[in-house]
Amino acid sequence: MTTAERADADFHQRLVAFRRDMHEHPELAFEETRTADAISRELDRLGITHERGVATTGIVADIPGGGRNAGPKVALRADIDALPIQEETGLAFASVHDGVMHACGHDGHTTMVLGACELLARDDDLPAPVRILFQPAEERGTGAKAMIEAGALDGVAMIFGGHVDRLYPTGTIVTHAGAVNASSDRFSIEIRGPGGHAARPHESIDTIVAGAQLVSALQSVISRELDPADPAVLTIGRFHAGTAPNVIARNAILEGTIRAQDPEVREHIIAAIRRISEATASATRAEVEVNIQVGVPAVVNTPEMAALAREAAAAIVGAERAVALDTANMGGEDFAHYLRHVKGCYVRIGVARGDRINHAAHSSKFDIDEAVLPIGARFFHHLAKLAGRSLEAG
Ligand code: NI
Repeated sequence: MTTAERADADFHQRLVAFRRDMHEHPELAFEETRTADAISRELDRLGITHERGVATTGIVADIPGGGRNAGPKVALRADIDALPIQEETGLAFASVHDGVMHACGHDGHTTMVLGACELLARDDDLPAPVRILFQPAEERGTGAKAMIEAGALDGVAMIFGGHVDRLYPTGTIVTHAGAVNASSDRFSIEIRGPGGHAARPHESIDTIVAGAQLVSALQSVISRELDPADPAVLTIGRFHAGTAPNVIARNAILEGTIRAQDPEVREHIIAAIRRISEATASATRAEVEVNIQVGVPAVVNTPEMAALAREAAAAIVGAERAVALDTANMGGEDFAHYLRHVKGCYVRIGVARGDRINHAAHSSKFDIDEAVLPIGARFFHHLAKLAGRSLEAG
């Protein structure tokens, strides 16, 4: 083994060790204290200045860049939280916390970005200072906003982040121009009637019948009102009604989620939910109340920023493995909030292994291919440099 190969092997091993420890000790949104301790220790080891307790459990680190420490910064973001899922991977380093699991790969994201920190800290040729955001509570969709409110983007001109993706083989990086994540909003619809005896429907208003009609009617928004070329989803995930078989339900509550890539499609669906809910209530003589809980916007990469990420990906994995997204991804991602304030790009990083079943994110058997860790670290390091150069060039 040459010295360079030995150094590479050591680097990979450090990343694997960090990831496994983080995977074994997952923490939910805004409770990531042990995780923050581990990140902070690693940053200390690398001699990187950082502030803890940002947005509760987040960390902001700063790596000075060459001659222009005071200028605009390039930012990298990693999310650090886990999900309320009982792990069933059977891994030796499976979660020791009952009902909590890194089932979305945020342990991988954090490790790759920490790996990039190590490469950046060693690099004496950085064209611009680099800020690192270790963000809590991505799964709740509120962590990014909290980081922004705490000033994490102050002085930042460009931001980059990425998500592991089991639909692409390890060594592939998706640098897509256009939408890479959908907007995600929740809604609840409450249908109210007087209630009554199940044997005397004519004396009451049946909120379950009204609700059932509404479930079907709402599905026609996607299939009949929207351009089939515009991806959109309307899912009703909960329908609660009734107390007994022989009682007409006073209330029916429907709750669901809306996903879209285009803001106009998003607005259309929200308006349609209100319109059809009111019309169905009026047709069935029930009362209705609609609540929309606005969530995250879509993540849309501009062609300019996607090209920058593609250049970095091509340098690390080869041009033929820096690919575009081949199907729409309707998951939500709070990275979208950062892109409202500064330019940037969100990539997807392949973690599929050919020799096994690659379970979906948010499944109890989700796992990543650890070979991705140094690839992601090198990619983010290179991307931060390219972005810094583009800032320098103005
Ligand atoms: Ni995730």
